[in-house]
Amino acid sequence: MTGPAEAIWLGHLATMAAGAPYGAVRDGALAVRDGRILWVGPRAGLSRDLAGPATRIHEMGKAWITPGLIDCHTHLIFAGERSAEFEGRLLGTSYEAAARQGGGILSTVAATRKAASADLEAAARGRLRTLMSEGVTTIEIKSGYGLDLETELRLLRIARELGRTEAVTVRTTLLAAHAVPPEFVGRSEAFVDEIVQRILPAAKAERLADAVDGFLEPVAFSAPQIARVFAAAGAHGLPVKLHADQLSDGGGAALAASHRALSADHLEYTNESGVRAMAEQGVVAVLLPGAYATVGARQPPPVPTFRARHVRMAVATDCNPGSSPLTSLLMAGNLACALFRLTPEEVLAGMTAHAAAALGLDAEVGRLLPGLRADFVVWPVDHPRELAYWMGGLQPITRVRHGR
Ligand code: NIG
Ligand code: FE
Repeated sequence: MTGPAEAIWLGHLATMAAGAPYGAVRDGALAVRDGRILWVGPRAGLSRDLAGPATRIHEMGKAWITPGLIDCHTHLIFAGERSAEFEGRLLGTSYEAAARQGGGILSTVAATRKAASADLEAAARGRLRTLMSEGVTTIEIKSGYGLDLETELRLLRIARELGRTEAVTVRTTLLAAHAVPPEFVGRSEAFVDEIVQRILPAAKAERLADAVDGFLEPVAFSAPQIARVFAAAGAHGLPVKLHADQLSDGGGAALAASHRALSADHLEYTNESGVRAMAEQGVVAVLLPGAYATVGARQPPPVPTFRARHVRMAVATDCNPGSSPLTSLLMAGNLACALFRLTPEEVLAGMTAHAAAALGLDAEVGRLLPGLRADFVVWPVDHPRELAYWMGGLQPITRVRHGR
């Protein structure tokens, strides 16, 4: 750490590093150079060498600075909407029943296959900008509404393009094992062959996927089928994640753990031994209260058990047209408090440090620590718990990514 910083930001810091609640440093200073954090600490401890004649000083007063927010689970790229299904649920047709009747995910697949790439990209870009305007600096985007080689790759290419053209880091996930497409009805094994032999290798060859995901549920894929997809991912050197135990206990948490998954997501029906397996393998629990609320679920995920076993919990939007038409990560955090009894501090860790871990990026983003990327957000709040408290309307003062 020699030579001056390019910029120094002064304000209260919620570093989310271990130690004090929120890793808080009141009256702190954050020094930035070359897009990275150079130094973090109390402003009284700032060394003179850090502030050269060209160093820009940003005096943020009593504002709080947090790590850039990370939405670690989205299905951002899709066509159409499913409000009729939403309404139907309120009139008594369950999420699973709609799926079995050929609605659900497959209706979005039909709309997405038909849509022009430019239209898919424009719609996703709008949702992305909404998330970014609330302080998101890193986002995961899944495929899963193509379910054929060409469309799955098309969706991942759009995700990559969004990452190239917007000031946000995009991590892509191949979710070909999301539903059995119409041309494979009654032949789900053959579709798993298609994923394993063609779709996954093609995504890998074009470097389109940073991870591989699957939907383990009676309305989607069985545990042996997911295990085949995960084995193929492993053979291609790709980490895995899983939509696990959302609507029933399918042993998803334990399956994810046995493949050393980055995360297991949803987890409403996860049992105690599943939580233990996740703890042993360091699998992050990604909680998705938008989906819980929208499908009208009744059983919250086992948050007290995650706490007791020290399983890291993340919170994400799950933005998708069927189960979570949500484009506010802050609102997801508020819902996680209301519906899952997370504390505001758990929510902020869940949208920063733990979300980074769910993407395998915890050495890069998610905390305010020297060496990590200078991705952070300045908030007009008196306390960082306000990020989970307000139900809409909270806007950052500034959002900084790679120091800019
Ligand atoms: O995360 N659970 C499976 N996938 C999505 C829902 C997708 C859809 O209904 O279109 C989810 O909830
Ligand atoms: Fe999802």
